[in-house]
Amino acid sequence: DDPAARPAEIAAQAAADIAAATGVDRHDIALTLGSGWGKAADLIGETTATVPAEQITGFSRPALAGHTGTIRSILLENGTRALVIGARTHYYEGHGVRRVVHSVRTAAATGASTMILTNGAGGINEHWTPGTPVLISDHINLTADSPLEGATFVDLTDLYSSRLRAIAHGIDPSLDEGVYTQFRGPHYETPAEVRMARTIGGDIVGMSTALEAIAAREAGMEVLGLSLITNLAAGIQSTPLSHEEVIEAGQTAEAGISALLARIVAAL
Ligand code: 6GU
Repeated sequence: DDPAARPAEIAAQAAADIAAATGVDRHDIALTLGSGWGKAADLIGETTATVPAEQITGFSRPALAGHTGTIRSILLENGTRALVIGARTHYYEGHGVRRVVHSVRTAAATGASTMILTNGAGGINEHWTPGTPVLISDHINLTADSPLEGATFVDLTDLYSSRLRAIAHGIDPSLDEGVYTQFRGPHYETPAEVRMARTIGGDIVGMSTALEAIAAREAGMEVLGLSLITNLAAGIQSTPLSHEEVIEAGQTAEAGISALLARIVAAL
């Protein structure tokens, strides 16, 4: 059941597992909830099934505190079915890009046409205090990798759907937007790398999302991306960065940003 072997078949099998485990044949939207966003699962609707991720083909136990390791099927008030993925494989785990995007390909295989990707990330813009949610307007993929292989020349214009961003702005007009730069990690960037990211047009630094968004676009999904600024990037903030700080900022902001995300989802 290794998505690194036959990605499409393994994703189709995972979708079949999800249908069997949840009793729901088709999901309309999917959400990956990163650091700080987990409570949204409780706010968007009624959870009708919760499945440990490792029971689904190609998924593994979460490597990270702050990820629940479950996949939930949630019924929204308007009848929409949401698949909530609380398990993310990060590129820095070193299992390859196919494993990283398995959850997105699985979401597409369940029928989802919208992919909402959330994360906790570092801010380059010093006006963003920790706890600020930011809409991702575009990305710069600094992993030097791609989830696509061969002659799949996928267009990435408007990857982070301006239509979905407009809906989010309608819910919270004060939401800022920024360009997400995905670094490989797991180390944080040096101050020089953060200056480079700023110079080339980045506003946010993180270790996820861009590769997943590319796979979502290849699968024909519309993408909405949201970052929680958990800290300022190295050299922007004067104090050293720590994973504990990231988790703590996520916990502090969680209720507010999860409520925001739930209102955005209800408006889609
Ligand atoms: Cl400063 N950098 C990266 N790459 N990821 C982060 C972060 C920084 N803060 C939270 N996640």
